[in-house]
Amino acid sequence: MSDKNSTDLTARSNAAVVLAAGMGTRMKSALHKVLQPIAGRPMIHHLLASVDAAGIGRRVIVVGAGRDQVMNALPGEVFAVQDPQHGTGHAVSCARQALIEARTDAGEVAGDVLVLYGDVPFVAPETMAALMQARRVIGSDNREAAVAVLGFRPNDPAAYGRMIQNDEGELDAIVEFKDANEQERAVGLCNSGIMSINADLLFDLIDQIDSNNAAGEFYLTDIVALARRQSHRVVVVEAPEDEVMGINSMSELAKAESVWQRARRAVALEDGVRLVDPDTVWFAHDTVVEAGAVIFPNVFFGPGVRVGSGTIIFSFSHLEGCRIGENAAVGPYARMRPGADLGDRVKVGNFVEIKKASIEAGAKISHLSYIGDARVGENANIGAGTITCNYNGYEKFFTDIGKGAFIGSNSALVAPVKVGDGAIIGAGSTITKDVECDALSVTRAEQKQISGWAMTFRSKY
Ligand code: UD1
Ligand code: MG
Repeated sequence: MSDKNSTDLTARSNAAVVLAAGMGTRMKSALHKVLQPIAGRPMIHHLLASVDAAGIGRRVIVVGAGRDQVMNALPGEVFAVQDPQHGTGHAVSCARQALIEARTDAGEVAGDVLVLYGDVPFVAPETMAALMQARRVIGSDNREAAVAVLGFRPNDPAAYGRMIQNDEGELDAIVEFKDANEQERAVGLCNSGIMSINADLLFDLIDQIDSNNAAGEFYLTDIVALARRQSHRVVVVEAPEDEVMGINSMSELAKAESVWQRARRAVALEDGVRLVDPDTVWFAHDTVVEAGAVIFPNVFFGPGVRVGSGTIIFSFSHLEGCRIGENAAVGPYARMRPGADLGDRVKVGNFVEIKKASIEAGAKISHLSYIGDARVGENANIGAGTITCNYNGYEKFFTDIGKGAFIGSNSALVAPVKVGDGAIIGAGSTITKDVECDALSVTRAEQKQISGWAMTFRSKY
């Protein structure tokens, strides 16, 4: 094997196996564990994005319990079914056929099979690469290691498998907590479950695993001792605990969310975004905020939001699927729903909801409005309490408001309707017909006045 190949990840036929056949019963949720969202995206997507970023071209997802949900949520993936579930070693063996296809696809050079867990979603692409790279380091036996395992030193080793090392720091065995003696349980280095295995040796080793253990399962971890028995080397790479945390319960899901958010807030600050109180801002996996934007406390970003430079998002605003241009202002208490597209210098104030509407540069919607299925032209001014009546109970209709138009407070614009450039709508109007450019349109009933009436009324009582 040439040195060049041994350092170039993509030259090998690497493949990942993602184990996701477990029941996830501790989650007590109708939604499959690996589909539970973190930062608005199913946890398994976080993992698969890292698999992509690590340059691993092929992957097989092992599914079993609740597999219809997982398969429907991941179109285009290759699946292997494990039913019933007899342990992690059995799970990998179920991916055999799919993995063999993965290997022959990429050429003759033997590579790595990287085993990942669908409920351990934060393994970084760099860590995946480091694990595969560690296996390729030639040891004193003049060979690559057969297996590289990702270990960590948790604050509370709890029931994790313990990693038993030899004097050289290489791995002799992984002992499951249930099967460990007191001395083994005292070991602080734990198995994350993630490992990289020589693709040529994988099934030879897997076939030797038995289920003579406390759980009566086929443990993938047993391949460590089996590899040692055939005088192969097994090496360890250590990762921080946050990166290999497993998510099995709602409590662990909440912890994972907070770990993710903490890291994302640090990135935002590093990028030059001012977060007035970072701990209270919630990002989605794909939020884009440009340098120079300011985010006040208690702002929530759902998926699909872009915020331009110089824009301020005031407190208690909820944004999702929207684009905000530069030097704009949104909130406090604003709700930007999918399809809200705000141009530069737009001002949206408190208790304003915008959905599927393009608000062009410099327009102002300062208070208490609903604008949906609409265009608001440049520099238009939408008065307090303006509502686009976009829905008749069956269909949605469009409201088009021209540039520089002025909509008086408490107006109802009954769509489909068009207000021309520069038109003025009198306060309290219900507009059902198109309004010409630069016209005044008002539907108010005439105001009557009876002098002294109030005094007479009061004196009667
Ligand atoms: C496993 C490891 C343990 C490690 C721990 C880290 C084994 C034997 N033990 O234990 O050393 O410290 O993870 O979190 O590997 N799965 C299947 N099919 C099965 C069983 C499991 O696909 O038949 C999947 C699960 O969905 C999950 C992953 O494999 O994604 C791990 O399974 P789990 O039962 O949580 O293993 P642990 O007992 O936690
Ligand atoms: Mg587990």
